[in-house]
Amino acid sequence: MSRTVYVNGEFLPEENAKISVFDRGFLFADAAYEVFPVLGGGIADADAHLARLARSLDELNFPTFYTPDEYLPLLKTLVRNNKLEEGLVYIQVSRGIQDRDFNFPKNTDPSVVMFTQQKSVAENPVAKTGISVITVPDIRWQRCDIKTVGLLPACLAKAEAARQGADDAWMHDEDNNITEGSSNNAHIITQDGKLVTRQLSNAILHGITRVSVLKLLEQTNLILEERPFSIAEAEAAKEAFCSSASAFVMPVVKINGVEIADGKPGPHAVKLRELCIGAAIESAAKAQATRPKRSVKVKSA
Ligand code: PDD
Repeated sequence: MSRTVYVNGEFLPEENAKISVFDRGFLFADAAYEVFPVLGGGIADADAHLARLARSLDELNFPTFYTPDEYLPLLKTLVRNNKLEEGLVYIQVSRGIQDRDFNFPKNTDPSVVMFTQQKSVAENPVAKTGISVITVPDIRWQRCDIKTVGLLPACLAKAEAARQGADDAWMHDEDNNITEGSSNNAHIITQDGKLVTRQLSNAILHGITRVSVLKLLEQTNLILEERPFSIAEAEAAKEAFCSSASAFVMPVVKINGVEIADGKPGPHAVKLRELCIGAAIESAAKAQATRPKRSVKVKSA
């Protein structure tokens, strides 16, 4: 069934949702994006994701920012129109359409695209067995805190993981310390019960799910240590997991072919996953309570 997609002010059937070849997102990756989890038809952590989008656009010197008040009803309408119960909703904002020129355009409106994806984000069977990761050099730029669509290094990392028969890749810096996953934040639990996760900086995306996990630590007996950790430390960890809007907490059971503990999801990762999904369900339900009342009409071809 065709989805409804939002493009620059219109809700369109996906086959009619088109963007100009002169869009700066297409030509220069001059665009930022966000991915929100959808549970029970509601959007979780919407405010935090929209605040991060605002920050990304601000850091990229976008001239216009549409406030959450403007984006949120559109995202909710899209989820509702597509009858999406569980999955993701995506938003991308580019600097707009202009004949190819590196310099920023003067009076161009940003392009805004939104679409939904049906996906088992909470009811994900993969979480029961956990995933394997390899480590690859982090070849990204120095502003990984900005969520831009310049994702080729992440695609290369995931493709290399697939080539080696692994599920995903964790990236490492020149000191062999893990920065983050290709599309998630990386965490380990040490043998002495510390949750170690890299501290916030321009080297990693400031994950919304990471914030949620750290908040939930008070419901565990884990002690938080925000610092870099090495590949060797990760391979010797008691548990490992990654966090993201599309997977919440996902246990990692193998790093570079080395089994973590007994090669099964660890109890802390399992508990944090449960708590994290619980918090997201609550947040999504709150958002549902204030959903827009009417569906919008989709423009036909
Ligand atoms: N990725 N680090 C990177 C490089 C990411 O791309 C993501 C998210 C995260 C986790 O952030 P959050 O918890 O806010 O989702 C960390 C999304 C899911 C994506 O690109 O599909």
